[in-house]
Amino acid sequence: MEHKALGSTDMMIPEVGLGVWRYNGGVEPLRTGIELGAFLIDTAEIYGTEEVVGQAIAGLRDRVVLATKVSGNHLRSDEVRRAAEASLRRLNTDILDLYQVHWPNPGVPIQDTMRAMESLVDDGLVKHIGVSNFSLHQLQAAQASLRNAPIVANQVLYNLNRRGIEADLLPYCLEQHITIIAYTPLDDGRLATPAVFPHDWRMRAVEQVAAFSQKTPAQVALNWCTSHPNVVVIPKSNSPARIMENCQASGWRLSLEQLHYLNATFA
Ligand SMILES: NC(=O)c1ccc[n+]([C@@H]2O[C@H](COP(=O)([O-])OP(=O)(O)OC[C@H]3O[C@@H](n4cnc5c(N)ncnc54)[C@H](OP(=O)(O)O)[C@@H]3O)[C@@H](O)[C@H]2O)c1
Repeated sequence: MEHKALGSTDMMIPEVGLGVWRYNGGVEPLRTGIELGAFLIDTAEIYGTEEVVGQAIAGLRDRVVLATKVSGNHLRSDEVRRAAEASLRRLNTDILDLYQVHWPNPGVPIQDTMRAMESLVDDGLVKHIGVSNFSLHQLQAAQASLRNAPIVANQVLYNLNRRGIEADLLPYCLEQHITIIAYTPLDDGRLATPAVFPHDWRMRAVEQVAAFSQKTPAQVALNWCTSHPNVVVIPKSNSPARIMENCQASGWRLSLEQLHYLNATFA
């Protein structure tokens, strides 16, 4: 498993982590993932999976980078603090490695939210601050609202079929040393199962590259994301076998020619 620095910090994270939205696999698949080096676990207060993550990491807390999120409906400063404390309880831990604003809320001044996030860092409840679903403009406003702690990550939709961030957010984050945590990197499983789409010629390209590289389509789709130096992926699977497959998307690289081919096919 290859590692990347989380934003501008010295915290190293695996380029393939574990997402747990709609996860119902119990503790074993997550423990399999951690054993295989996918020790970045991403949950959220709204997912209903913080408890199972807490159970899965019991006894392994030091080996895990734990990321969760405050709902965009809880962004007033007292709400942020209450949400963080509730997440800590459900995760059965005393510190969050990465606390992310799940989505922006134009009804709450970003300065209030970011000040609350920073006070969690000051009080030792949170190590690093991230955001999610923030546009470039929203990210810049969040950055400008922080006094001491940087924004280390923006968690956004990114996969071969959904490349909107490439226009501005991706290059900006690279320049600013902000990690892109790519969510839905398998396009909700579609990119892992191209045979299900016999009439989609773009899926044939994924199959071709996979066959040529002796990798699976899921591994090609994930490796395409992580070919960007500041991108990590957090695929979700309930299955230990698929988690193993997804972890093996790291440790090798698609060639430049293959990247060009996929980029042109999915343009
Ligand atoms: N911040 C946000 O707003 C936001 C939004 C969406 C998602 N996320 C995060 O991103 C994570 C991943 O995104 P996602 O769950 O939307 O989509 P995803 O990871 O792209 O796809 C998940 C789907 O792919 C299947 N799958 C996984 N690995 C596979 C493989 N190797 N072969 C075939 N099928 C495979 C899973 O089924 P099985 O489980 O049956 O294997 C599941 O149905 C979430 O869990 C969450 O942590 C964040």
